[in-house]
Amino acid sequence: MVKAKSFTCSACNAVFNKWSGRCDTCSEWNSISEVKPLTSGPAKKSLGSMRGNRVALSDLASQQAPPPRTRSMMNELDRVLGGGLVPASAILVGGDPGIGKSTLLLQAAARFADVGLKTIYISGEESTAQVQMRARRLGLTKAPVQLASETNLRDILTTLEAEKPDLAIIDSIQTMWADNVESAPGSVSQVRSAAHELTTFAKRNNMAVVLVGHVTKDGQIAGPRIIEHMVDTVLYFEGERGHQFRILRAVKNRFGPADEIGVFEMTGAGLAEVANPSALFLSDRDNPAPGSVVFSGIEGTRPVLVEFQALVSPSPHSQARRTVVGWDGSRLAMILAVLESRCGIPFAGLDVYLNVAGGIKVNEPAADLAVAAALVSSREDVSLPADTVVFGELSLSGALRPVNQTENRLKEASKLGFSTAIAPSRSKITSDSGLTLRQMPDLTTFVGDIFGAG
Ligand code: TYD
Ligand code: MG
Repeated sequence: MVKAKSFTCSACNAVFNKWSGRCDTCSEWNSISEVKPLTSGPAKKSLGSMRGNRVALSDLASQQAPPPRTRSMMNELDRVLGGGLVPASAILVGGDPGIGKSTLLLQAAARFADVGLKTIYISGEESTAQVQMRARRLGLTKAPVQLASETNLRDILTTLEAEKPDLAIIDSIQTMWADNVESAPGSVSQVRSAAHELTTFAKRNNMAVVLVGHVTKDGQIAGPRIIEHMVDTVLYFEGERGHQFRILRAVKNRFGPADEIGVFEMTGAGLAEVANPSALFLSDRDNPAPGSVVFSGIEGTRPVLVEFQALVSPSPHSQARRTVVGWDGSRLAMILAVLESRCGIPFAGLDVYLNVAGGIKVNEPAADLAVAAALVSSREDVSLPADTVVFGELSLSGALRPVNQTENRLKEASKLGFSTAIAPSRSKITSDSGLTLRQMPDLTTFVGDIFGAG
């Protein structure tokens, strides 16, 4: 029997059954090579007919204690990790270049080293002198972190094997180069194989490993997405360039809740933790402008107040603009459609700009009512009272649906000095938050009550 050959593209990993000079999928030249089977020679018998080792089986009742964790004492980081660093875990920290990943991880490395973990920081991007300069700027020169500037994965693994650290930080995975893979550093196959080697090494040697990954917009360098499935925890470090706020968000965590966030501020001396993010995301609230609405949101396990700002103005363009920062564009379109068809408030011929202040991204549908309020407030040029927070999910019928954690939302608003909350009818409340609660069954009632329109 002639066995079919298989070829794969090293740039995009597409699979073909014949060689060609150019990949049909990603148009890359000279990227296709043959995939050699693991063993050559005559075809082997099927696995089932060969003897392997018996695997130990156990029942569902776990006898194992929860993993011991090490806290860095950087609370914002520990919370995002699910309560501290788990031994032998693999963590991916992704984010745009220049957002502050190296700064964050050098600070974290210093903290973990200070509390007794043997920590090695390997930079593939900067020289040791550059990292030392940053450490000086951050006031971390006394921390017992060991440092190397290296990209050769074989040498790195040999070093880690000899040193046996508790924690290794690899900055970044895209600079790592495995000499047994025939493609350039940063390509899909290199990134994937480097991540695989490092994570399996970490599990085998009881070492925690943090991989830094740049998010890239062009296809030249492989983004961190392709290795998300290999690691236990995926954190993204986000923020707007012009803003000093940075948000570390857990999008996957085998050892804790996903969607947890940690908030930092980039200062001249590194990242500072922000213990009370609500105060930070709200602008001066004495005289709110029309279009400004405070939403009482939940990020992970924490309530966070954020300000939605809308600007609705007559459009000079033949096609009116819809521009959104920090919120989902298609969700905005839906809310505009509901306002138009259920409340009779048209937005045709009007440009709509929607922004979440402070550079945070909001994903909760619970913000629907706050978005609708901001849009109507700007369109009608009527401000919402300064002491009011808003939340509620909108259905296409225009009805308002109660959202989760109503009480936490109310408590946070009360703590920050708000006195009124507008929420959907039937919201679950058992204790008094001290806020005046105005419950609305649907959007039409809300618009009529608050703006006297609709
Ligand atoms: P960096 O950690 O190098 O980003 P990344 O590793 O994600 O590419 O951070 C780069 C930016 O952070 C750079 O523009 C300078 C700024 N920065 C500060 O504002 N304060 C500091 O103390 C440090 C070290 C960096
Ligand atoms: Mg960096």
